Amino acid sequence: MKIFGIFGDPIEHSLSPAMQNAAFKAMGDEACYHAFRVSEMRLKDALLGAQAMGFAGLNLTVPLKEKALLIGVLQPDPLARAIGAVNTVHFSAQGILGYNTDGWGASLALQESRISVRGRSVLIIGAGGAARAIAYTLKQEGAEILIANRSAQRAEELAAQIGARGYDLCQLKSLAARSDIIINCTSVGMKEGDPRLLQPDALHEGQAVFDIVYNRETELLQDARAAGAVSLDGVMMLVHQGAKALQIWTGRKAPADVMEKAVREALAARRKQKPIGMKEADRDAI
Ligand code: ATR
Repeated sequence: MKIFGIFGDPIEHSLSPAMQNAAFKAMGDEACYHAFRVSEMRLKDALLGAQAMGFAGLNLTVPLKEKALLIGVLQPDPLARAIGAVNTVHFSAQGILGYNTDGWGASLALQESRISVRGRSVLIIGAGGAARAIAYTLKQEGAEILIANRSAQRAEELAAQIGARGYDLCQLKSLAARSDIIINCTSVGMKEGDPRLLQPDALHEGQAVFDIVYNRETELLQDARAAGAVSLDGVMMLVHQGAKALQIWTGRKAPADVMEKAVREALAARRKQKPIGMKEADRDAI
């Protein structure tokens, strides 16, 4: 039996176990995938412990993706190093190897929705681990990137690193109005009643709006639809980043259709279970 898992904090609401266990079953593999709550402080111990116990692979999520590069036990591949974040770990004979599949997942989700980024102006809201991966990947694909973040300093640091421009959120409305594609890479919208970062009148027909939040249709996506813009949620990014991780661990093509079905079923079951008036989890992790 091969052991896989996801480390993060909080982690209780991760859909990765349902998604990856469904994939292993469909592939006929004797494997299991479990979620573990691991704090930033304990990441090094947890990685070395997992290696000692013979784990085959891991995903890392909030708040561990960037921290993983700083603890000195993991060898990132050139892409994870360039992005500055690791979301996939492979325990191999060569050591503990780190990868980043978030940008791949986002890029494939956009392509499947026929949203082409080459030569288009792409506004990325956020400058955390997910924003880093997406900004780096779409820049490589020929997008013209703008980054807006609550912390302007973080926006400017990321922008400088990839050759883009960074802003704070004060200018969000005018930046959004002149962007072809808008991508929300913050956690805003995960909870019902989260205040909007962007007012609906900044959106218009001809734009595409991608929100990496996947647990509900965010107000941003509702506004995009109402404005006649193309809208895309985070489900397929979740699926494709997970499928790529599975391919790294097993060397085999992952059943993305099975993984998507497992995610959509888990989301539907969660919606049914949620008592009226209860808010979504503080932070859903992928
Ligand atoms: P992830 O790995 O998912 O990107 P993260 O590294 O914690 O997670 O990044 C979260 C992002 O959401 C950051 O860009 C954060 O902004 P700051 O850099 O200023 O902290 C953004 N974010 C979180 N809550 C926010 C809020 N209420 N309003 C605006 N931005 C928010």
